[in-house]
Amino acid sequence: MPTTTHRIHNFSAGPCTLPLEVLEQVADQFPDYAGEGMSIIEMSHRSKTVAGVFEEAQSLVRELLAVPEDMHVLFLGGGATFQFGMIPMNLLQGGKSADYTHSGAWAKKAIADAKTVGTVNLVFDGTDANFTTLPDPASVRAGDDAVYLHLTSNETIGGLQWKDFPAIDTPIVADMSSDIMSRPIDFEKFGIVYAGAQKNIGPAGCALVLIKQSVVDQCPGDLINYLNYANHVKGQSMANTPPVFQVYLIKLVMEWLKAKGGIAWAKDMADQRSQLLYDAVQRHAGFYTCPVDERYRSTMNVVFTTPSADLDAKFVEEALAHGMSGLKGHRSVGGCRASIYNAMPIEGAKALAGFMDDFAQRNG
Ligand SMILES: Cc1ncc(COP(=O)(O)O)c(C=O)c1O
Repeated sequence: MPTTTHRIHNFSAGPCTLPLEVLEQVADQFPDYAGEGMSIIEMSHRSKTVAGVFEEAQSLVRELLAVPEDMHVLFLGGGATFQFGMIPMNLLQGGKSADYTHSGAWAKKAIADAKTVGTVNLVFDGTDANFTTLPDPASVRAGDDAVYLHLTSNETIGGLQWKDFPAIDTPIVADMSSDIMSRPIDFEKFGIVYAGAQKNIGPAGCALVLIKQSVVDQCPGDLINYLNYANHVKGQSMANTPPVFQVYLIKLVMEWLKAKGGIAWAKDMADQRSQLLYDAVQRHAGFYTCPVDERYRSTMNVVFTTPSADLDAKFVEEALAHGMSGLKGHRSVGGCRASIYNAMPIEGAKALAGFMDDFAQRNG
């Protein structure tokens, strides 16, 4: 097993830090996977070995999240962005409509793509509040003719997270790219849950899609091959040559998560890490500001500002010198952002909270 000598705390929003144990395992297994004399990305995707990796990745996702029997587990190319369009292409053609919640930058992209196919009704629009808050889930109602209601469970840029979901009969379709695997999901409410892999699951370029059979039954037969969910279900995520490396890493990350204690462990750690950082903001209220409504603050992406853009830049630069990278806020909003996904060790959050104290004392 190779030994890694240089690692820093990587607070990037995605791609982001992955478990060191997994990276070392990949390095160790890579040139000669399972004694086959070749790496996994050189093998036929029709081989028993690759099929076995897919089956295992799928069954680990199913086990960890307690995905119900009537829901398929798919790994699809194109990331979460592709799902923004694929969902309406499958469900909204022929003048159908869906309800969307506009919670920030990622919801906006999902809405824009859905509008190219069908009718979009906004049941929540956070624009006026600058996307710092969400509706009370109990107050969200779906329209009578809505095929589904779409929400973004965690806005990665805004640091805003749904803590509970609307109790409606209409199936919910959720983009869980940046908080899947960080808390349990009650799948009863959901028709589709999708997530780009590059935060809590593995490398970019692949989306995990959990889709109920009742939704697959609605997919039109005349869609082009790759767009139709029914084809991916039938082909067990191998309707075309699939992203094998991504799924292999997903399998390893899921094994790592299971060994750590699964979703209960992930939730506990996410709560602890985020609390450390929000407490640091609170200790220095007046120096640090988190614009997000306290009820909906994300456990995955902690956003905050210092008193000026110059100090924000200084914070990011000095943090890097202290071995903490990726703390610059998204270019569209500025400020600072600490992304603390499952693979971020608690020591990383402690180091950052300590640095926040020190920085505020020196510059406040
Ligand atoms: C919430 C959310 N949705 C969608 C995406 C887009 O994912 P991808 O780049 O895999 O298409 C991202 C990427 O960061 C995201 O954070």
